[in-house]
Amino acid sequence: MIVDPAPAPPATAGATMPALQVRQLDVRYGKSHVVFDLAVEVARGELLALLGRNGAGKTTAILGIVGLVPGASGSVYVSGRSVSKLPSYRRTKGHVAYVPSGARCFPNLTVQENLELTARPAAGGWTLARVFERFPKLRELRSNQAGGLSGGERQMLAVGRGLMSNPTVLLLDEPTEGLAPVVVQGLGSLLLDLKRTGMGILLAEQNHRLALRVADRAAFIEKGRIVAEMPAAEARGSDILHRILGV
Ligand SMILES: Nc1ncnc2c1ncn2[C@@H]1O[C@H](COP(=O)(O)OP(=O)(O)OP(=O)(O)O)[C@@H](O)[C@H]1O
Ligand SMILES: [Mg+2]
Repeated sequence: MIVDPAPAPPATAGATMPALQVRQLDVRYGKSHVVFDLAVEVARGELLALLGRNGAGKTTAILGIVGLVPGASGSVYVSGRSVSKLPSYRRTKGHVAYVPSGARCFPNLTVQENLELTARPAAGGWTLARVFERFPKLRELRSNQAGGLSGGERQMLAVGRGLMSNPTVLLLDEPTEGLAPVVVQGLGSLLLDLKRTGMGILLAEQNHRLALRVADRAAFIEKGRIVAEMPAAEARGSDILHRILGV
């Protein structure tokens, strides 16, 4: 459980505040310290790419933000309101949606049941009908068990589940892993559309091409620390991309 080390919430809370603010996030697995003093901020309608190699700490940082690791400390604010003391299931309802890597969902439930499980209606927000409109394939498969979907279909379902909770912030962990290029393109345009609706998005990726195409800013993580942060345009083709991702 995350605790606030210092009672220093932002001055005002609400729609003008950044979608997500993370301060002094440290995550440990037992004695192993994996994420160090991590600070990130994502504005409304902004996409921050969290880029780093295998084992750099991207997933661990996201788990710390959603409150899914016991050994985490630090502060997490959504729209300026502290969610640090909320258990994970309450953080994810309506505040922060988490799309885990590998597009995990409930394999024995149908596509529609998976979507309905995370539903949290919001005025003008995502509904089952709107998710089906965006992903017609999911409508076709609505009565199928999720376990039988292809990798690309499962990824659509995982993102659809995230949208059904109408979050302020969407956290995506390597959503393009193993997907065909055409599915990756589709995901890219969806992320651009979501930004236009004001959603704040944190995208952890090794696929820097897609990430930097849709991102506004990039943060580079190495050995559990953010070592550089810059506008996405500056990150494309930069030395740091070569140095940190080895590309
Ligand atoms: N449950 C765990 N227990 C102990 N150590 C872990 C655990 N999960 C991850 N680690 C370690 O923490 C470090 C960061 O791992 P993490 O999975 O967060 O990296 P990542 O950037 O998401 O990597 P990848 O690109 O492979 O997904 C690694 O050294 C990893 O071995
Ligand atoms: Mg990972």
